[in-house]
Amino acid sequence: MELGIKNKNVLIVGASKGIGRGIANAFAGEKANIVAIARSEDLMCDVKNECLSLGCPSFEYVIEDIMACDTKAFAQSLIDKYGNFDIVIHNVGGSLISRDPLGGADDWNYALKFNAVASIDMNSVLIPPMIEKGWGRVVQISSISAVMLRGNPLYASAKAFLNAYVTTVGRALAPKGVVLSAVEPGAVAFEGSYWDKFVKESHPRVEDFLRHHQAINRFGTPKEIADVVLFMASELSSFMPGAVIPVDGANM
Ligand SMILES: NC(=O)c1ccc[n+]([C@@H]2O[C@H](COP(=O)([O-])OP(=O)(O)OC[C@H]3O[C@@H](n4cnc5c(N)ncnc54)[C@H](OP(=O)(O)O)[C@@H]3O)[C@@H](O)[C@H]2O)c1
Repeated sequence: MELGIKNKNVLIVGASKGIGRGIANAFAGEKANIVAIARSEDLMCDVKNECLSLGCPSFEYVIEDIMACDTKAFAQSLIDKYGNFDIVIHNVGGSLISRDPLGGADDWNYALKFNAVASIDMNSVLIPPMIEKGWGRVVQISSISAVMLRGNPLYASAKAFLNAYVTTVGRALAPKGVVLSAVEPGAVAFEGSYWDKFVKESHPRVEDFLRHHQAINRFGTPKEIADVVLFMASELSSFMPGAVIPVDGANM
């Protein structure tokens, strides 16, 4: 299947580990030019070597904390340095934040910024050049929690907000050749992930969680998420603007 990703300029925000690293590897295999963002320089060095060995023609990384910088100015600085991006993947986010539903605006603002608004702010700079060119792909990594609305209420709500953004803004961008979409992973395990230590300990929580919540009865892998991201970033997603796609092992 020809994805049309070769030599495209791709920005991956949150690429040093887990799902983001899997996404970087997938784009490297398609011979895309990658600019990757994360906070951990040692990990980014490893990802760079990994991606170059997979055939990536160009891999640059920028060390930045998107929760601590002016995200709009940061996005502009990336364009100034590397040029416009054809494809942007927003992977930063997570549930390991406050779980207190009565924690107030600080907690809620953090959850929203981490899982949605930081990337939305970057998009305000990254998407206009795509519109001008008449082609672009932006994939937001959401979560099946946005639909099931279980677990950490701040996380589930923030991802639900992100999904609403993708659906509504995806429609607005549809006539302009820009496909904005979201992929909703179910529980994914990898070295160092939340579930990894429970799996290694054969903890009863694992069997219990899988039996009750993931019908496929196993965790997903970063590659299983990355393959769908790759499709949504490709020419083949042209009739899918605003799509929000579960990749969740039949979460229940
Ligand atoms: N894993 C799952 O089971 C699962 C399930 C559903 C949805 N998701 C979603 O999938 C995405 C990735 O999840 P994951 O489990 O792979 O997460 P992860 O292991 O925590 O990785 C997150 C990535 O984002 C980077 N990052 C985190 N905070 C950052 C910041 N402030 N500035 C810049 N980069 C930052 C991390 O790198 P540094 O630490 O080096 O900065 C890392 O590369 C998240 O949006 C998450 O909500 C995950």
